[in-house]
Amino acid sequence: MIKVELHPTTVKMVNRKHPWILKDSYTEKFPKREGILVGVDRTQMPVCIFLHDPSALQIKGRVWSFLQETKQERKEAIFDLDSELQHRVMQAVSKRFESKNNIYQQRNNFYLIFGEADYIPGVKVQFLNCTILIQLYTRFWQLPRYLNLLKKCLQDALSKYLPQTHIKPQRQHFLLQYRFSGSAPTWVVDNTSNEIETKTVTVTEFGVNYALNFELCDDGGIYSDMASVRKLMIPYIRRLLQPTVLNLYAHTGSFSLLALENGAQKVVSVDLSKSYLSQLELNLQLNLKMNLQLDSGNHLSIVDSVQSAVQKLKQDRGEKFDLIISDPPSCSSDGQRVANALQNHQKNLPHLLELLRDNGLLLLFINTHKISTNTFKRKVGEMISLSTLKLKLKLKSKLEVVRYFHLSEDCPTLTSFPEGDYLKGVLLRLRKT
Ligand SMILES: C[S@@+](CC[C@H](N)C(=O)[O-])C[C@H]1O[C@@H](n2cnc3c(N)ncnc32)[C@H](O)[C@@H]1O
Repeated sequence: MIKVELHPTTVKMVNRKHPWILKDSYTEKFPKREGILVGVDRTQMPVCIFLHDPSALQIKGRVWSFLQETKQERKEAIFDLDSELQHRVMQAVSKRFESKNNIYQQRNNFYLIFGEADYIPGVKVQFLNCTILIQLYTRFWQLPRYLNLLKKCLQDALSKYLPQTHIKPQRQHFLLQYRFSGSAPTWVVDNTSNEIETKTVTVTEFGVNYALNFELCDDGGIYSDMASVRKLMIPYIRRLLQPTVLNLYAHTGSFSLLALENGAQKVVSVDLSKSYLSQLELNLQLNLKMNLQLDSGNHLSIVDSVQSAVQKLKQDRGEKFDLIISDPPSCSSDGQRVANALQNHQKNLPHLLELLRDNGLLLLFINTHKISTNTFKRKVGEMISLSTLKLKLKLKSKLEVVRYFHLSEDCPTLTSFPEGDYLKGVLLRLRKT
């Protein structure tokens, strides 16, 4: 295996178990082709084995094995990527199927592999009702030898948990997507199938059905990484007793449908995209056919920017909600200016509070690793203090934190890898003082 010297800063980071080798003057001297390399320090001591992606803009290598404290016999074993990959895939898949949270009993959309946090760097794999969505973040896994090996390992691991009839060995059962930084996500159509099997994939999460459309959105229309948060929200929605719900940045409406399934008497979903809201309506119809509890007559879609829709809701209707959800994209535009998610929340909060009933709940998300959990908590604290004075004077109420949310269940995180810890949510309650 080819050895390459790593920058002293990279060595330090890798010794702290950070799994990325970022572009620097040392990476310029690495070979020009994808492959598996051994990173060494100044003294030629092996520090890690990594998967090399020379054309990546920033993340030139993803650590496959940390070697510093690894015993000699283990070190030799790790060099055998084939058997190590089989072992890691089996471990990752078993964790999901044998989880104490019974993930598979509650939903058939979940991550089988969550990249670095499952020690299979640069790959995420979702189980979507027996269709396997492979998302590659490094070109290393494009190499046919390793991609085929990955698929084979997945099939072997899944065959342990699923009846043979559930997982067909045909290649078209895999969906492949490239998510290399600097370019938009790209679907890769397998040679053996003419098109992506959009029509056939329907997933069921906590009793709600979602038809996924992979031509419409990068994840088919459901963010499975938020499923654990949706699950935790169910008791809060039920306790509100037939609440009215405003879902901002609703996308294809996973929170809207969850609320309807759990007793909401009315849900208003707002999104800029007409196509996403049409998909939401399709999903309502799908559930109506299968589940009479979920009544589409209780739902209203508003195609508009959140900023404008909130103003109109305030002026036109004077209507208040028991639960407001706001999940802006990391960077969002109202057509005129671009703001980040935190700025959006800061700016929108006073307006949202005017739309919230006493004892109502407000669920806010941000979706970026660039703001750490601690910073997020601090910012939420600042937002609450800023709103407190105004609330006391105007609404005679105060805002309090009910709980925070983060990635969990099938989406593990590592303390040594903050980049993988991107989702942060907070549930707030408006209380009368
Ligand atoms: C992160 S997704 C929300 C995911 C959603 N909460 C879910 O659970 O599926 C962000 C959504 O915001 C929408 N969006 C972006 N900017 C917007 C704006 N200014 N007003 C309304 N919607 C916007 C996008 O079309 C996209 O569907």
